[in-house]
Amino acid sequence: MKKILVTGSAGQIGSELTLKLVEKYGSDNVVATDLREAPENLKQACICEKLDVTICPDVRAMVARHDVGTIYHLAAILSAVGERKPQLAWEVNMNGLYNVLEASVEHSCAVFVPSSIAAFGPGTPKFDTPQDTIQRPTSIYGVTKVAGELLCDYYHKRYGIDTRGVRYPGIISYETLPGGGTTDYAVEIFFEAIKNKKYTCFLKADSRLDMMYMPDAIKASIELMEADGQKLIHRNAFNVTAFSFTPEELALEIKKIIPEFEIRYDVEPIRQGIADSWPSKMNDSAARQEWGWSPSYDLAAMTRDMIEKLIPRLK
Ligand code: NAD
Ligand code: SER
Repeated sequence: MKKILVTGSAGQIGSELTLKLVEKYGSDNVVATDLREAPENLKQACICEKLDVTICPDVRAMVARHDVGTIYHLAAILSAVGERKPQLAWEVNMNGLYNVLEASVEHSCAVFVPSSIAAFGPGTPKFDTPQDTIQRPTSIYGVTKVAGELLCDYYHKRYGIDTRGVRYPGIISYETLPGGGTTDYAVEIFFEAIKNKKYTCFLKADSRLDMMYMPDAIKASIELMEADGQKLIHRNAFNVTAFSFTPEELALEIKKIIPEFEIRYDVEPIRQGIADSWPSKMNDSAARQEWGWSPSYDLAAMTRDMIEKLIPRLK
């Protein structure tokens, strides 16, 4: 088979998605790439290479050298870091994507490109956010995400490239820490609850956002790429969600397992502003209808599993 290339494979999602791809397609068929050194477990699992997606000839050469047929393009700058470094966010998220799409035209690759709840903005309906609606994001990260969705649709229409994507909500996981986003609190809170029984949250108690546990994020990505293309009406990108909660509700769920846990709030204006501009609960019926999306974890199941998995690691 032609190989699967993952960009950004050392990140929160890449580090776990790559291992799942190896499990499914075999270690010789997956090439993990990142700007950073690969973690040891990834080096043991598959071919690992350094790749800066902003360097077009390097992206093209990597795709050619490994006879790549599918690219999971995860390299990106996330929302909070993006607001600190907007030029870098544009360079990586837009030029990196352009380079990946150009290489895909040259080598007829299928491409998975994640978008985000960040592709929406303050003018978007906050509840039951439709698949097709107003998208006027106000963060640079969101601007690159909505432009990325359009660029992927354009490459599909213009060059016939099989581009597909999901609008991930905040992703919760325990293997690799998040890379500097607005939803990072929903991961940090578990580490602090177990280590110190308290957490100071940078978002307000009632900031409601869509979220998803990592096994479902991986499932969504692979199932979409394996779906029958003829049945896809939408491509870039599908709303997908598992549950939505506020910091207060997540804290109450954690308290059911760690009763001493206390949450406090010290609101950080930049990340709060970003969160306020995002939807609270997306409608993901298009993903359900077009390729059978259905999450496995609800809030309670995710909370139980996170705590069970983290306790032995943090001892
Ligand atoms: P992350 O920040 O954890 O990982 C991104 C990886 O990209 C890092 O390992 C980083 O080293 C790498 N990278 C940065 N610049 C690069 C460059 N120039 N060349 C090559 N690699 C580079 O991010 P993540 O959470 O794993 O996100 C993966 C994708 O999913 C991104 O497109 C992100 O926007 C999207 N997404 C993530 C979430 C989430 O909650 N994690 C939610 C919505 C969408
Ligand atoms: N979790 C991501 C962020 O907060 C959403 O795309 O940036």
